[in-house]
Formats: sequence, structure tokens, C-alpha cells
Amino acid sequence: MADLQKFLDELRAKVSIVDVVGDKVKLVRKGREYQACCPFHNEKTPSFTVNEAKGFYHCFGCGAHGDIIKFEMEANGLPFMDAVEKLAHKAGLEVPRLTHENKAELEKKNSLYDIMEMAVKFFEKCLRLPEGQRAMEYLSRRGFDDAIIAKFRLGYAPGNNGLLALLKSKGVSERDMSDLGLVSLAENNTSKRTFDFFRDRVIIPIFDKRGRPIAFGGRIMGDGQPKYLNSPETPIFNKRRVLYNLNNARDKAFEAKRIIICEGYMDVIAMDKYGFHYAAAPLGTALTEDQIAEAWKICNEPTLCFDGDGAGIKAAIRSVDRALPILKPGYSLKYVFLPEKMDPDEFLKAHGAEEFQKQIDTTVPLKDLLWRKNFENRPLDTPEQKALLESDLKEEVAKIADPTVRGYYIQEMKDRLYFEVGQGVRRKMQRSGEFQPRRDYGGYRKANGRNSFAPQLSVVVRPKRVLDEQIVKFVIAAMIFCPELIAEYEEKMADFEIKDAKLRALFDALIQIGMDEPEADCDKVLECLQKAGQGKEVDVLWEFKMLRLQKTPVLKLREEINTKIAEVQLKMLEQEMKECLKEIDNAPDFPNEAFKRYESLKKEKEAILSEAVSG
Ligand code: UTP
Ligand code: MN
Repeated sequence: MADLQKFLDELRAKVSIVDVVGDKVKLVRKGREYQACCPFHNEKTPSFTVNEAKGFYHCFGCGAHGDIIKFEMEANGLPFMDAVEKLAHKAGLEVPRLTHENKAELEKKNSLYDIMEMAVKFFEKCLRLPEGQRAMEYLSRRGFDDAIIAKFRLGYAPGNNGLLALLKSKGVSERDMSDLGLVSLAENNTSKRTFDFFRDRVIIPIFDKRGRPIAFGGRIMGDGQPKYLNSPETPIFNKRRVLYNLNNARDKAFEAKRIIICEGYMDVIAMDKYGFHYAAAPLGTALTEDQIAEAWKICNEPTLCFDGDGAGIKAAIRSVDRALPILKPGYSLKYVFLPEKMDPDEFLKAHGAEEFQKQIDTTVPLKDLLWRKNFENRPLDTPEQKALLESDLKEEVAKIADPTVRGYYIQEMKDRLYFEVGQGVRRKMQRSGEFQPRRDYGGYRKANGRNSFAPQLSVVVRPKRVLDEQIVKFVIAAMIFCPELIAEYEEKMADFEIKDAKLRALFDALIQIGMDEPEADCDKVLECLQKAGQGKEVDVLWEFKMLRLQKTPVLKLREEINTKIAEVQLKMLEQEMKECLKEIDNAPDFPNEAFKRYESLKKEKEAILSEAVSG
């Protein structure tokens, strides 16, 4: 490839990256660099920079990074050689034709796959020979019939260095065999001897997405260590990138909109046998970011399947840690925990496909696992311990790089804290009847039938809104005149603060009467108010006299109260929204919290408006 490399260097030297990028986006000079809005993601303020001296571009927003060739490829969707051609044309250069040397390099990789294919065929053949009988018996004991053996190209590696001999006879160099992890070059003082890497094991070939053999797993047939031997990393095998069985599962998974990722290859094969063709597995390591990204190309929420014991949960939690930084809108993971410490293979054998289907239909979302990871097995008796949980959760959620997803996780974890730690006790008491809502209880409200348990842990604890004296008087008058309104409006009124002490006392007395004498009519209420020492206050309540005089019907009263309260609420909400917007404008970075608050204020406003309309 030497020629091509030299040519590319020349190309990079001759063609200005500012020219290339400038064709696509408008660049503005800023000191030594140029800036633009990034062509690779949506943005309003430029975070995309081009450095002419260094010949590369970099986006601080999305991390896009590269040179002229990469830019041509990514910005115009060109394959590598087309991008090179285009740039060469721009520079008035001619792309050198592939020389022998280039071809040899390219073909080398192909020949590595060819060697691997020879090995697959060899192992397949050995399984059918007398020496492979034990392996064959092992596989059938595990329930794998001919069809499965053929589909997954299972094989047997004999213990007699047969692969080495075969490959030698085909002219494959020991260097290549060793590079591919098929043999180990064992050395001792006097002589150098080479052995087959896999000896006397059942062989499970591993294929890349395109179905080319890239590695092997070898299982010991009896007890012994290691249970599985895996190919080492080679020029064509990066175990952190590959998911086993993706070559078979990809299409099925795409169709089913579902991919199940389990821990072992035997599980994948067993699932396939029982009709679950969309299974895959990492190769003896915990799931990596690359593998998650690979699975996301197929479906938005891959299902991870673990056994439900301690080790399974631990592995699941490791995958949560892996996934957090790369979560993005619409993409997540979900989890299945099989009972009785079983892996899918064992579960299918014990309970069959139908039960397994039920298991994989019952998934736990990633967010629940994140919660469990932090919530379980920790003391939560004191405020300090609860605060520690909250700050741990905050730290955890901060690992999510995507700001939108992070915002929702913050909310989610706050809600969860509120329900399970903050207000949980109160809710339980309320359910068991020990807890009666009191109007001065800031956290408990059920205005407009909306969620009464609005998370109190959100950044701001909203101050109570002050209700205009005129409105308070009107509501009190209406309550005395039509006592059924006491219960109806008690909670809504709890949202507001009554500044005037006398009115507040009158209102409190009224609420007490409402509780003590739920069936009271107007006269009865008046009598009770007298007893409670509120007679004088009622006497000066001009609004009450008016209502009595006009015999205002209760429907009218409701309408009037609703309108008056809605007006106040709207005014307050608008004020809060204004302040929120100001905060958003002044925030140094993405003001997630403020956006969230703004959204919820807006929703609240819409709810009030629609309620006013539907009346
Ligand atoms: P398990 O120990 O759960 O094995 O390892 P398994 O999949 O149930 O296999 P069987 O049913 O006993 O045959 C899960 C995965 O971990 C890797 C392998 O990829 C295996 O599929 N592993 C396990 C190794 O790489 N080496 C080992 O020694 C053991
Ligand atoms: Mn198993």
C-alpha cells in the first residue's frame, strides 16, 4: 500500500481542508481556526472547527473529527476511493493504479479468511470421523441435532495437530496460522515446536456479520479448565466488536424488532433450536459499548438475558454502566432475569419454548435496574442516608452523555425518590387511612385532578401562590352558602396562601366544620361558625349577604370560583414561565432543569385553559 499511502499524504498536503469544508458549510475565521455550524448534527451556535495547519476538522458538539478524506466520505456519503478520486480531481492529481504490492495487501486479508474457512471445514469433517464420535455424542446429549450442527457449523478439534498438518500441506505459513490463533508456537530451549491451539474440544466457529469465519470457541467435553477456550485477538478478530450469531440473527431480529443477547454461545444455539432465531452473545466478556452499538443497529431496545442469581444481576449492572454514557434518544436496553439460576439453554430444556416466550416478554427497563443498583441494600433511615442516595443517583445519571436523555433520567430518578423515599410513608399512611390531607400540607394537592404527587424534589420548591382577598372572600361566602363546596374546593384552595390572618382563621374554621359536619346545611354552618367564635367575621362578609339575597345557584358559584382561580393561576404561571425563560437565556450550558420546568409549567397552563373551556 506504500504507493497509495504516499499519494494520500500528497493529497492532504495539496488540498486545503478549509476549501473542502468550505464547499459544504459557511466558515467564519476565528483566530487560528475556522468555525461553522456542524454539518453532522443539528445546531444553532457553531461548535464545528476547522484547523488548516493541522489539516483536520473537529466538532465539539457531536465529536465528528477527521481529515479531508473523511470529510468527503461523511459529508457526501462517498466510499473511500470515490472520496480520494474527487479530491485528486480537485488537486489536479491522478490516483495511482493499484500496484502488485497493493493487491497483495488487499488479498492478504482475504486469504486469512480463506485459511479460517479451511479450518472450519476441517473441524466439521473431524466431527464426522471416528475420532469425533465423543464430540458427536456430547452434542447430541446437549440436544443438538444434525440440522443445528450444520447450521452453526459445529465441529471437533482432534488432539493430534491435524489442523497444522492440513494447513501446512496447503502451503499456509506457520506465521499466518499463528497470527490467526490456530496454532501456538511453543518454544523450549533446544527446539521450537508448533501445536494446534484447539485440541480435543468441540468447536464453535465464530462468524462476522457477513458470515466470514473469524475465530473459534472450543468447549471441553468433560469437566476441566478452561471450560471454553477462545481464539486470541487476531488481525480479523476483535472480540470486543463481535456478537456471536449476528450473521444468522440479523435479518430475523430486524423483522421481529427484537434481539436477545445472552451470555453464552450454547444459549444462542439452544434458543435457535427452540425457534428463537434472533439471539446473539458476546464472546466470553461483558457486553462492550461497541457491541451495544452493534445491537442498536438492529433494534432500539435489545433484550439482555441473564440468570436471576447474584452473578446475573452483577453482569446486568455492568451492562447498565456500559450503556449509560452512550444512551441516546429512542435507544436503550431491557432485561430478562431467568429464574432458578438457569441460563436460556437450561431453561428451555426444563420448561420449553412457551414458558421462555413468557419470560422474554416480561422485561425490566434499564432505568429500573439503575434504580435497583443504587437503592437496594442500603440503609435509608435517616435524612443523611436519603441525601446520599440522591447524590449517588445524581452522579450516576451524570454519566449519560446525551443531554435530552439525561434530562429525562434526572426527572425519572427524582420521581422515584419521591415515591419510594420521600413521600412513600405519607402515601402509605394515607392509603391505610391514618393520614388525612390537610390544607396546609404543601406536598399534597389534587388541583384540577392532576397528579397530586408532583415531585417535590425537583429543583425548586414552588412558593405557594397568594390569593387575592376578594377571591378568598368570595370562596368563603360560597362555601357558607352552599356547604357542599367546602369539600369540593378544600384541596384546590390548599394551593394558595391566604395572607389575611382573620380570613385565614375563618377559612380554617370552615374547613373544620366541613370535616366535623359533612352533612351540614347553610344554617347549620352559620351556627357552628358562631360557636367557633367566627360570628363577627361572617357578619362583615358582604359577599355572603349578596349570595343569600340573590339566591345564587350552586352551578353559578362553581363557575365563578373556577374562573377566578384559573385567572390567578394563569397569571402566576405566566410569571413563572417568564422567569424560567430568563434563566434559560442566561444559562451557561444546556439548561435542562429550566427546560423541564418550563415544559411542566406550560402543560399546567394548558391544563387550566382546557379545563376552563370544557368547564
Ligand atoms: P458459562 O460458564 O455460563 O457457560 O459461560 P455456558 O454458556 O452455560 O456453557 P455450557 O452450557 O456450560 O456449555 C458463558 C460464556 O462465557 C464464556 C463463553 O463465551 C461462554 O459461552 N466462557 C465461559 C469462556 O470464554 N471461558 C470459560 O472458561 C467459560
Ligand atoms: Mn449453559
